Amino acid sequence: MDEISKFLREKYAQSSSKSTFAQLFTKSRQQQRARGILIKSPQQIEGIRKSSRLTSEILDLLEKRIRPGITTEQINTWVHEYTVAHGAVPAPLNYRGYPKSVCTSLNDVICHGIPGPRKLRDGDILNVDVTCILDGYYGDSSRMFLIGNVSAAARRLVRVTRECLYLAIDQVKPGNRLGDLGHAIQQHAENHGYGVVRAFVGHGVGVNFHEPPDVRHYGRPGQGMELRPNMTFTIEPMINGGDHRIRMLDDGWTALTTDGELSAQWEHTLLVTETGVEILTAYPGQRDHDIVCGI
Ligand code: MF3
Ligand code: CO
Ligand code: CO
Repeated sequence: MDEISKFLREKYAQSSSKSTFAQLFTKSRQQQRARGILIKSPQQIEGIRKSSRLTSEILDLLEKRIRPGITTEQINTWVHEYTVAHGAVPAPLNYRGYPKSVCTSLNDVICHGIPGPRKLRDGDILNVDVTCILDGYYGDSSRMFLIGNVSAAARRLVRVTRECLYLAIDQVKPGNRLGDLGHAIQQHAENHGYGVVRAFVGHGVGVNFHEPPDVRHYGRPGQGMELRPNMTFTIEPMINGGDHRIRMLDDGWTALTTDGELSAQWEHTLLVTETGVEILTAYPGQRDHDIVCGI
């Protein structure tokens, strides 16, 4: 008998007599699968970090280019070409039949707006949501863009939504729970009279576009899944100026507010570290600089 067979025979002889080889094998596969999705390996984290960096670079590029008069189709072309030129793939394209390479959500569009011929006009607010697949790893982030002169009310919604994202990020550390994040967002948004969208949530991300867990943007402190080091997920609050509910366009993607009020969204991909959080889709200090077009 060779050394390895001998070792295994002894090892399994010691384990519970009720466990067959098949059961031992199945258990370890299940554990691996759970680990592979929720807790990332150092190698996976490095991949997700690189992909996230590319995602934030694309948003930086858009900050320089987005202005009144350009179409959302033009934004789609810029995102597609920059992504491909950097050896990556735009994750939205053909995802569950989505027809474009980026989501562009204008004014009362909550999320998943499809780029098209609409020209950006003075006073619009726009969310651009970029996701790259680089070497098989996903990075997902969105920012708001203010087009020309935007009303004080719209700027306030955009600012408070960004504050919601960062208040939730402040809650990300081992031992805290998903409900702590959701609560921070809901509290801040509702204190301003806004509605927190329930129909869409943040999500685990990295090895797939949308992985467990769901990250709700509302909730109660101390409830929900406990955070552990090396989890990667998004936080992406969608905050409506009025009612939190949504209505869908016939295109099957575009989600709008029911009352015609504006909606805003900001998103980052996050890594839970041993001591807190790393924002993978931001460079250090971006938090202070995340102010686009003078919000
Ligand atoms: N980027 C979006 C998110 O944050 C998902 C877009 S799905 C698409 O989860 F198909 F519309 F691209
Ligand atoms: Co996302
Ligand atoms: Co996104």
